Amino acid sequence: MYNSKIIGLGKYVPENIVTNSDLEKLMDTSSDWIIERTGVEERRHVVKGDGNGTATMGVKAAKIALERASLKAQDIDFIVFATMSPDYYFPGSGVLAQELLDIPDCPALDIRMQCSGFVYAISTADQFIKTGMYKNILVIGSEYQTGGLDMSTRGRNISVIFGDGAGAVVMTRTENNQEGVLSSHLHTQGKHAEELSLIGPSTRRWVPEIITKNDPEDISYYPNMNGQFVFKHAVVRFTEVINEGLKKTGWSSDEIGLLIPHQANLRIAQFVQKKFGLSDDQVYNNIQRYGNTTAASIPIALTEAWEEGKVQPGTKVVLAAFGSGFTWGSVMIQW
Ligand code: ACO
Repeated sequence: MYNSKIIGLGKYVPENIVTNSDLEKLMDTSSDWIIERTGVEERRHVVKGDGNGTATMGVKAAKIALERASLKAQDIDFIVFATMSPDYYFPGSGVLAQELLDIPDCPALDIRMQCSGFVYAISTADQFIKTGMYKNILVIGSEYQTGGLDMSTRGRNISVIFGDGAGAVVMTRTENNQEGVLSSHLHTQGKHAEELSLIGPSTRRWVPEIITKNDPEDISYYPNMNGQFVFKHAVVRFTEVINEGLKKTGWSSDEIGLLIPHQANLRIAQFVQKKFGLSDDQVYNNIQRYGNTTAASIPIALTEAWEEGKVQPGTKVVLAAFGSGFTWGSVMIQW
């Protein structure tokens, strides 16, 4: 059995910065409200026609990760692509990334686990590397979600939070079982599926049905979120799943070099930080600048933390996420 480790990281965010003041012009909200409740100060939005899409942004991040890993795209044996905003209903964005990267016949798997998508993707890649089936795996988290948000006052509880962007990592095998991904922990609870969801169009709400009815009250094509319910579950599940990882690895919370929580809401991250008694240096947040980029949030944050020198050989890194599904998980990495 091998271990898997990350050898290259990259990120890409669209150039277009949307500040809270910009949103004040579109809906009844205020920068103070957004910062106090979520921590978000600005986010990036794709501008229609700027060439950015879920697959293209993912590939931009992937190319940086590949260069830093000193690998060519053709060295990749498998692509794992996490997104909840795929370019098409089908096929998945992973196959589009494979084509854009020009890796002939390379298998590509889409992961649809929303805010937990990247944690699930790393765990999946880890299993394929552990067994020896693949050596080099490209793991991408990318989201172009702002094009589908309700930017009126009606959708303000969601639209102020989310942003677009992508992050990617290259994983490879190591024979040193003391380094790399030491454990991963995944969970779901489908009974709360509709508390944070986008119901239609889907096989329960086919497009012709929506069009035929043409019901102005039907806004099932916009995401729906029961914010307080999600918040309450998030803080509990983040805590549980980090504890699960600490127990498995035998690490104490003092030993955590860097916790990278999925950037859902700064208040959730601060709650978790306090719960584990972590210092500001032990937790990485960048939701202030990017909002919640769903499956892209952890790889963007991990890349920035690495670029800032906060992740060094020997650092104990914890990735943790919670989101729609509900889904949640953690990954413990000895860098
Ligand atoms: N600007 C101004 N007022 C607003 C806004 C806004 N953008 N959004 C909602 N409000 C109003 C509401 O209408 C409500 O008004 P009322 O009291 O007159 O009815 C008031 O603010 C309070 O609304 P709440 O929903 O109770 O506000 P809360 O403090 O819960 O904050 C928030 C809302 C930020 C959404 C919070 O619940 C939250 O962060 N929840 C967790 C969401 C999350 O983490 N999602 C991540 C997972 S995402 C994923 O997996 C895809």
